[in-house]
Amino acid sequence: MKDKITGITNEAKSAIQEVSELQALNDIRVKYLGKKGELTLVLRGMGEVSPEERPVIGSLINEAKEVIENLIKEKEENLRNAELNEQLKKETIDVTFPSKQRGVGSIHPITKIIDEVKEIFLGLGYEVADGPEIETAHYNFDQLNTPLGHPARDLQDTFYITDDIVLRSQTSPVQARVMEKQKPPIKIICPGAVYRSDSVDATHSPVFHQIEGLVIDKHITMADLKGTLEIFAKKCLGENTKIRFRPHHFPFTEPSAEADVSCFVCGGNGCRVCKGEGWIELLGCGMVHPNVLRNCGISPEEYSGFAFGFGVERIAMAKYGIDDMRLLYENDVRFLKQF
Ligand code: DAH
Repeated sequence: MKDKITGITNEAKSAIQEVSELQALNDIRVKYLGKKGELTLVLRGMGEVSPEERPVIGSLINEAKEVIENLIKEKEENLRNAELNEQLKKETIDVTFPSKQRGVGSIHPITKIIDEVKEIFLGLGYEVADGPEIETAHYNFDQLNTPLGHPARDLQDTFYITDDIVLRSQTSPVQARVMEKQKPPIKIICPGAVYRSDSVDATHSPVFHQIEGLVIDKHITMADLKGTLEIFAKKCLGENTKIRFRPHHFPFTEPSAEADVSCFVCGGNGCRVCKGEGWIELLGCGMVHPNVLRNCGISPEEYSGFAFGFGVERIAMAKYGIDDMRLLYENDVRFLKQF
């Protein structure tokens, strides 16, 4: 009997040692400790044991049961731990693994030019001013010495909301708004969208962008205007850029001029970008008309100033070699990614 118990115990021990799955371990539990298990069968055979030996055998069986139970418990814990570790290993997150790349946007070429120009003029001590895109005819025209009957006020040029309210056709009204509010010295630029009643084609859009500049102080002359524009052109388009003025007419400046820059692609010899001219038209400018100063409460006897205005798209197109303005508004990432 004793030998049988020892045999069962050893057999159970080695079975438990070898097992590697929880289900199989449970089978072992049933095989040795279950209702019909081997130790239970031994217990049932106690009838054949002499009464003196019974307590001894009884306690041997209990001991064996306890040993097997403890081994099973220990093994169960080991197997559960191993299972958990396996699962943790499978589910670990590798924080060093490269993440999925999301497409990063880029700065729109128009915004890029506006930022560059701002940077240049902030460096020259200018401030950035702002004005409404829905503007009164008073500021868009009257204050700028552009009276009723002037062709710029024509329905074909300007979007009217009412007779007195327009989508601003230029950033110049910001000049008047600033001069009315601020005493000289004034040094501002104003970037923004402007609207014209134009059909869309490769060089026209009903919405485009301008940057306006205005300087008012004592003793400001055309030489200041020229020097300022020269610095601007060199910084924006390259140190070798030359600038030239052509007489022109704007109602709000006197004298008025258009400024051209030497072609920054060919250096002035003539190429596709400058259409063989060697020069590229850059902007309109002039000395602020005395009527405009007076309209805004500034004495033309005491103060003078210059102003200029240019189209951002035109500069972006020339600078980046873009030959169709529509590309700037289609927001095709394949185009925009290039800048
Ligand atoms: N506002 C003019 C235009 O849209 C550009 C311009 C010309 C602005 C001369 C100025 C200036 O400030 O002095 O064509």
